[in-house]
Amino acid sequence: MLILGIESSCDETAAAVVEDGRVLKSNVISTQIPIHTLYGGVVPEIASRKHVERISQVVDKALSDASVTLDDIDCVGVTYGPGLVGPLLVGTSFAKSMAYAAKKPLVGVHHIEGHISANYLEHPDLKPPFLCLIVSGGHTHLVRVKDYGEYDILGRTVDDAAGEAFDKVARAIGLGYPGGPKVEKISYEGDCDAIEFPQAKVSDHPYDFSFSGLKSAVLNYLNAEKMKGNEINRADVAASFQKSVVESLVKRAEMAIEEFGTDTFAIAGGVSSNGVFRAAMEEMCAKHNVRFVAPSPILCTDNGAMIASAAYYDYQKGYRSGLDLNAIPNLKLGER
Ligand code: KG4
Ligand code: ZN
Repeated sequence: MLILGIESSCDETAAAVVEDGRVLKSNVISTQIPIHTLYGGVVPEIASRKHVERISQVVDKALSDASVTLDDIDCVGVTYGPGLVGPLLVGTSFAKSMAYAAKKPLVGVHHIEGHISANYLEHPDLKPPFLCLIVSGGHTHLVRVKDYGEYDILGRTVDDAAGEAFDKVARAIGLGYPGGPKVEKISYEGDCDAIEFPQAKVSDHPYDFSFSGLKSAVLNYLNAEKMKGNEINRADVAASFQKSVVESLVKRAEMAIEEFGTDTFAIAGGVSSNGVFRAAMEEMCAKHNVRFVAPSPILCTDNGAMIASAAYYDYQKGYRSGLDLNAIPNLKLGER
């Protein structure tokens, strides 16, 4: 079964063709990062306009790279939330028109479910149940994947997402947008024990995350050093901040392994590209004799292939979306 997956929830216009939820036939990603870099972050209105300009070409290229035509496609999958409403509307409207014109079934996909499914593409033998930590610019979720499309949310961020914290700290130390990869790069030149940044606990919710206190601690440190007339060592700040984020993520992942037990632990989302995070997770999982899996970096970032894979399993379970499918900016995982 060939699925065309379309993703436009933030600043990537992406489309891909995937066979049977597992085999990548094409994967086209047109990123808007160079445009938003000018403004230090994603400007929703500009993002919407760029999606409109690019979506036809991106979808055409996904079909031609897979050496298929729309006729060969069995189903169209599209992200309908969560995300920015304008960008989501471009993808959903385009997918609905295509499905209607070509008389193909349509499946609306949850963006986080897409990120989790990137692991199905990378690891063809991976099957639920497993534990998964999704860490991106918009989300930090620790979930039990009970079955395809069935999730228990153990914890999530109560304020900033981990990637958002990376982006804000990067901006504060003058590294620019998107901050995650830049913080990681410079961190290798720094000492991660140079500055002690706090790790917040959310009382009564041990699996929840909080990163805004850490972000404020970094900003306070930078201000205090400036007031004292000290020069800032950006590499030390980056390395120490990153250590705090990674420890906070890995600690909760380890708690979940100890409490619930699992054969496999997966990570997903943009921050999963981070080498320090991957290494720390790998080490922790090895200690518990748990298989650790992660998508390769191109599948960690927003892409259409992960949406096609999720749509395949939703389709198998009988889900179909109508032409009334709407963009839902705050769609909850597991909701339809
Ligand atoms: O999954 P994604 O592409 O989009 C969302 O759904 O949010 O994630 C983007 C986020 C950004 O915040 C970016 O700074 C972060 O992932 N990111 C990283 C790295 N690469 C991307 N954060 C830390 N280290 C990285 N290497
Ligand atoms: Zn994402």
